[in-house]
Amino acid sequence: MFRIAHFIRELDQPTPAGPRRNPPGPVVIWNLIRRCNLTCEHCYSISADKDFPGELNTAEVFKVMDDLKAARVPVLILSGGEPLLRPDIFDIARRAKAMGFYVALSSNGTLIDESNIDAIDEIGFDYVGVSLDGIGATHDHFRRKQGAFEASMHGIRLCLARDIKVGVRYTMTEGNAHDLPALLKLVEDEGIDKFYFSHLNYAGRGNKNRAGDARHRTTREAMELLFETCLDLHRRGIEKDFVTGNNDADGPFLLQWVQRRFPERAAHIEAKLRQWGGNASGVNVANIDNLGIVHPDTMWWHVPLGDVRKRAFGDIWNDLSNPLLAGLKQHPRTLEGRCGACKYLDICNGSSRVRASQVTGNHWAEDPGCYLDDEEIGVTAASYEGGERVVTTPWVRIAKVSA
Ligand SMILES: C[S@@+](CC[C@H](N)C(=O)[O-])C[C@H]1O[C@@H](n2cnc3c(N)ncnc32)[C@H](O)[C@@H]1O
Ligand code: SF4
Repeated sequence: MFRIAHFIRELDQPTPAGPRRNPPGPVVIWNLIRRCNLTCEHCYSISADKDFPGELNTAEVFKVMDDLKAARVPVLILSGGEPLLRPDIFDIARRAKAMGFYVALSSNGTLIDESNIDAIDEIGFDYVGVSLDGIGATHDHFRRKQGAFEASMHGIRLCLARDIKVGVRYTMTEGNAHDLPALLKLVEDEGIDKFYFSHLNYAGRGNKNRAGDARHRTTREAMELLFETCLDLHRRGIEKDFVTGNNDADGPFLLQWVQRRFPERAAHIEAKLRQWGGNASGVNVANIDNLGIVHPDTMWWHVPLGDVRKRAFGDIWNDLSNPLLAGLKQHPRTLEGRCGACKYLDICNGSSRVRASQVTGNHWAEDPGCYLDDEEIGVTAASYEGGERVVTTPWVRIAKVSA
């Protein structure tokens, strides 16, 4: 998770850069149900409108919440599938709030309507995130449901009318990148509080469809647009959260943008980026899937760490006998290929280990989603193993080409 707005504010109101510190417990993204009314092209949970046996029941969820509290977890993001399809979702959320967690709802928004907005409001969710992967037909195509965009917009507007903090979550591929400018305009026009830009990660249907991932050039243009939009709003006195996920190369890329646009602030932003420290999967972010299996984050469903029915969450999370968890918790991580040789490793921390793992079979290989070129990251082909770059771009898919 990379908070663009935080760094943009630092340009005008710098605060001291301290050492990098991890919070006492991780943010937990909890897929409480896998059933969903949509079947999106990129969905990491491969959700569909059917029952998935073996999910945690209400009593089990409550018991796990007690374990999470004991493990000093500060934030619960209630997700799915579509969490609003779980009949006990409001009982779970109400109890989580009463226990003092920061509680967010992660929804596709199509089921937020007049029948449940009172309950959503009364619970006092700290944040409601609604996915919008484009405007109108683009979103409907991506989410494979006609009318999904209108339904999600209706849900967003109901939240805004109640002053519930609401954000748009957008996952970019080559197929919906053209709608980014219009989505950013929509966020401003509608008075939406937050824009979460997600890069595609290679999990579930997102892995199957990874040939559709954005080209590196498309990603660079999108990031520049995000930086400029965030800066423009900030300078007009409109403060919104702009956040990205699933690609921590965004940190070094922001630094290079600052070096060009505000060279006098570059050293400060670099110190702040080092304090942030890049990818935090397995450290500050954790995932519990619908069956109660713990993973380093939501994109790691192919690797189980433990079962909350059998072992307390904190015991699973702190068990460094698991080599994946131990490797993820190192900072900076011990990596190979371009990531291992990169001068920004301690800023980005090797970005997505999932993409590396899905494409090469090696958790510690370079992230093929890194969109910075060799010169920018201070490497030459000779300085990393084999001098070859792993790429997954649609035009040279899942192959190694000479750097
Ligand atoms: C799995 S969904 C669950 C919540 C809800 N059904 C929704 O769509 O917002 C959570 C978020 O993950 C995003 N997501 C799903 N698969 C992804 C992938 N492969 N890469 C990046 N983001 C992904 C979705 O777009 C959504 O914003
Ligand atoms: S991304 Fe969300 S809305 Fe789409 S299929 Fe997955 S769980 Fe459902």
